Amino acid sequence: MLSGKRILLIVTGGIAAFKCHDLIRRLRERGAEVRCVMTEAATRFVTPLSLQTLSEDKVYADMFSLTDESEMGHIELSREADLLVVAPATADILAKMAAGLADDLASTVLLATDKAVLVAPAMNVRMWAHPATQANVMTLGGRGVLFVGPNEGPMACNEYGPGRMSEPLEIVAAVEGYFTGKLAPPDPRQALPQPPEAISLPHRPLLGRRALVTSGPTREAIDPVRYISNHSSGRQGHAIAAALAALGADVTLVSGPVTQPDPAGVRLVKVESADQMLGACKAALPVDVAVCAAAVADWKVAKTVNAKLKKTPGAPPPAISLVANPDILATLAAGGADRPALVVGFAAETEDVIANAVAKRQRKGCDWIVANDVSPGTGTFGGERNTVHLVTADGVDSWPTQTKDAVAARLAARIAQHLVAG
Ligand code: C5P
Repeated sequence: MLSGKRILLIVTGGIAAFKCHDLIRRLRERGAEVRCVMTEAATRFVTPLSLQTLSEDKVYADMFSLTDESEMGHIELSREADLLVVAPATADILAKMAAGLADDLASTVLLATDKAVLVAPAMNVRMWAHPATQANVMTLGGRGVLFVGPNEGPMACNEYGPGRMSEPLEIVAAVEGYFTGKLAPPDPRQALPQPPEAISLPHRPLLGRRALVTSGPTREAIDPVRYISNHSSGRQGHAIAAALAALGADVTLVSGPVTQPDPAGVRLVKVESADQMLGACKAALPVDVAVCAAAVADWKVAKTVNAKLKKTPGAPPPAISLVANPDILATLAAGGADRPALVVGFAAETEDVIANAVAKRQRKGCDWIVANDVSPGTGTFGGERNTVHLVTADGVDSWPTQTKDAVAARLAARIAQHLVAG
């Protein structure tokens, strides 16, 4: 909790500045006091009045304001806080910080402070990947500046890649990490991982394309009250359906029973068993792309009964015999004229993740496999984050650990690139 902590939030000029409203709210909910400094460019994206209202404090934007300076000089402003948070941090402010420039209130405060600084970068993917920005990040990391993000995802400029500002709750977690000593600056001796190549996409590239996504577990009935199932949360599959819809696709999401909220803008078909899931998938054809993210039960009960199995005192427990379920992914991949142009499967593995995924791609006849490590301790099942490798005919692309939403956005961008750019 951040009770009584004083955060000086420096807002610089980027489209992500709108997320500051939520960030201020989240910080204050946790007991922090938030005071805002804005650059001139930031005031083009959000108004000082909105930040003042949410922070319930004066907003500082002008270095040469006589009243501000008499009430609270920039030196005092920069040192009164317990932590400075720069969010969003543009390429420009990172360059100023690295060079020690002080030509407006925000950069002056950052140069004058004796407090820790946490930076949430937000910029176009190519600006983030530029060697100048990367060198500035290294310089700042070497001086102990803390970083959160940027995340990967679709950008306001119709490109895809790293450069999106972290979500407000991720920034809050980093702030909490600072106060609990769990957040360390990037190590300047270790080169940053090379950012993946930016993907340029037209606006809503999947407009007019149809997509099918399976998600969640299936439930295989034993009797009217009992079933066999698994721990799949549906989080990844639902995120993929939403990401494809966000790129303009007409999406049918066939989902087993989950507690995830229904994603907006997709056609949701709720099913229970693997047989029902297969039927719903066939009914959704033809589609351009099918993504099978469901954790389909491998077996179903050979004979389900219509009445609840009863315990009979003294009698042995009932034997349940199982038979194989249909393989939905393999069925879609094998399909004749109706075969989707792109069929994507998942491989949840606990060992030899990549080798098993490569073999699974062949065995199932699908085009791509998204392989993830679900061994105990990775927290993949039901968790927020996922570490995946995309296995295609061209090889293996290992992605950094990221949120399931980010995995979904990157996969959707790759699908769009494949289908549209081709
Ligand atoms: O064989 P395995 O379950 O490891 O394969 C995982 C992939 O196959 C996932 O994409 C999953 O959605 C799909 N699958 C399927 N139908 C099954 C079993 C798996 O669509 N019966």
